[in-house]
Amino acid sequence: MRIGVLTAGGDCPGLNAVIRSVVHRALTGYGDEVIGFEDGFKGLLDGYFRPLDLNAVSGILARGGTILGSARLERARLREAAENCAELQRRYGIDVLIPIGGEGTLTAARMLSDAGMPVVGVPKTIDNDISATDRTFGFDTAVMVATEAIDRLKTTAESHQRVMVVEVMGRHAGWIALESGMAGGAHGICLPERPFQVDDLVKMVEERFARGKKFAVVCVAEGAHPAEGSMEYRKGEIDQYGHERFQGIGTRLAKELEKRLGKEARPVILGHVQRGGTPTAYDRVLATRFGWHAVEAAHRGDFGRMTALRGTSITMAPLADATTRLKTVPEDRMLEAESVF
Ligand code: F6P
Repeated sequence: MRIGVLTAGGDCPGLNAVIRSVVHRALTGYGDEVIGFEDGFKGLLDGYFRPLDLNAVSGILARGGTILGSARLERARLREAAENCAELQRRYGIDVLIPIGGEGTLTAARMLSDAGMPVVGVPKTIDNDISATDRTFGFDTAVMVATEAIDRLKTTAESHQRVMVVEVMGRHAGWIALESGMAGGAHGICLPERPFQVDDLVKMVEERFARGKKFAVVCVAEGAHPAEGSMEYRKGEIDQYGHERFQGIGTRLAKELEKRLGKEARPVILGHVQRGGTPTAYDRVLATRFGWHAVEAAHRGDFGRMTALRGTSITMAPLADATTRLKTVPEDRMLEAESVF
């Protein structure tokens, strides 16, 4: 069998672990050939690829990013790929394509699959917002980075009697904010799923100062919005990939809290630090298991589906289940952390 693999969309710790695992299982388990397309679907469309053997993936397990490069692709070019998928499959002689990516990539994978390409998807995203899998690799690493940041910010906040507003990633789903906020003991957590009241945050900080705790940390997801009338904040425009251009909620909220509280507040935008660097052991294991199961699925002819974690087992889920609805933070998870909302 000849397998094509690519990584697309925003990168994420653990991508290299999947690539390595696919190559190991395919080569040593089945005697397959693997080629890697560069820069996601661009490589597939424009003919940039290279063979992947055991040496090519040696030493990459713990490395962040992706050795294949990654890119987002405009809808029009994805349609081009779907329309030409039979020709593309012939051109590279591949029996299956394994795209590793988030919601956008899996939607593209579904388009190719619907057009007749044999596809086995592997879900990834630090945001953990893909339905049909309990977890995506990269999330654990991002939560660890954000938690460490909160821990560190607490000590400097306390020294200076300040409010720190930590902005973490999460466009539509607040999983990173929720879990790093809980793990780091943030005093306020703001998620995209529930508009927040600035008054509640002001009250929380005032109460803390009144009982002698003269600092506070608020963890806010980049996609969180204040409740209507709670603070002046306009939603950003939509870019060419269908993403809202964020207006910097962390910075805006810190300014607003400083104004209302009359105390110093500082924004800290963690940004791509959450996506870079070495994956945690958890993410390396999950990514490795996904890679192994993707090759097994390819050999079973289990196309149009993606690897998924259910409980502690890896199963296969239809690409359609992963791409029709985002997995956002449910009400019961918010309730568990309600005292800090
Ligand atoms: O989808 C993952 C993600 O990390 C989002 O949380 C974030 O909004 C986005 O990617 C940023 O991506 P980029 O700056 O690479 O376009």
